Amino acid sequence: MTQHTRFIDDLKAFLEYKKEEGFQTLEISPETLAQLKSVPAPKPLPKPAQPAVRRAPAAPVNAPGSTVQISGKTLEEIEGQIRTCSACPLHASRINTVPGEGNPNRPDILFIGEDPGADEDAQGRPFVGEAGQLLDKMILAMGYRREELFIANMVKCRPPDNRVPLPEEITACIPYLKAQIALIRPKLIVTLGKTAAEGLLNEKVAITQARGIWKTYEGIDLMPTFHPAYLLRLPNKKREVWADLKAVLAKLGKEPPAKKEEPQQG
Ligand code: URA
Repeated sequence: MTQHTRFIDDLKAFLEYKKEEGFQTLEISPETLAQLKSVPAPKPLPKPAQPAVRRAPAAPVNAPGSTVQISGKTLEEIEGQIRTCSACPLHASRINTVPGEGNPNRPDILFIGEDPGADEDAQGRPFVGEAGQLLDKMILAMGYRREELFIANMVKCRPPDNRVPLPEEITACIPYLKAQIALIRPKLIVTLGKTAAEGLLNEKVAITQARGIWKTYEGIDLMPTFHPAYLLRLPNKKREVWADLKAVLAKLGKEPPAKKEEPQQG
């Protein structure tokens, strides 16, 4: 890692932290600006050859803000509708839609993330990248296997350059998630990060203040917590997420499994 990439990573972590806290703008002093300008620029890297990826064919985009009419009566039918959706411009750049996966029959927990990243877009499955590996560890630590629970996202297509989904993209996509929840009937919902909590609760959320405090969605208890991608940048926040997940287990009348003893050597 070069000095430049380390600096960019730290800056990104700081900005994400501020965004999670609810800041929309930041004031930068002239001294800080001067320091920012003094960071050495990286040498340009040679452009990698573009892999031949098959993208979904572009289809006409519906009017902005249009809401999807759910015609599917089963989870499979809804997934089919998602796979051919063109309700917002994100459909044009996706490789795959990512409807969600897991136990559809009243699982203990439905985890809801923001939207697919590059790995999820490539595979059509939620949380399979680095953040997904951390989510898997959290699920295991709670005493579950991933397939016992359900994992979905607020938005079913990857926004370009992993940007946060726009309000009109969330508005267009959210009927799918709501229909999925109505069919899956999870005992509890855990939203991961600010976007998922805001989308489902339909209110502004400062996640650093809202996490750990129970809410309800359509009569289902909902625990907002930090997104695993945020924990990858700020690992010291894992303690707070673990407290939230233990509260989730307690609500389900469960406890985290006892840690296995290390086998004795010799
Ligand atoms: N981040 C998300 O919010 N969802 C995914 O599926 C992967 C990363």
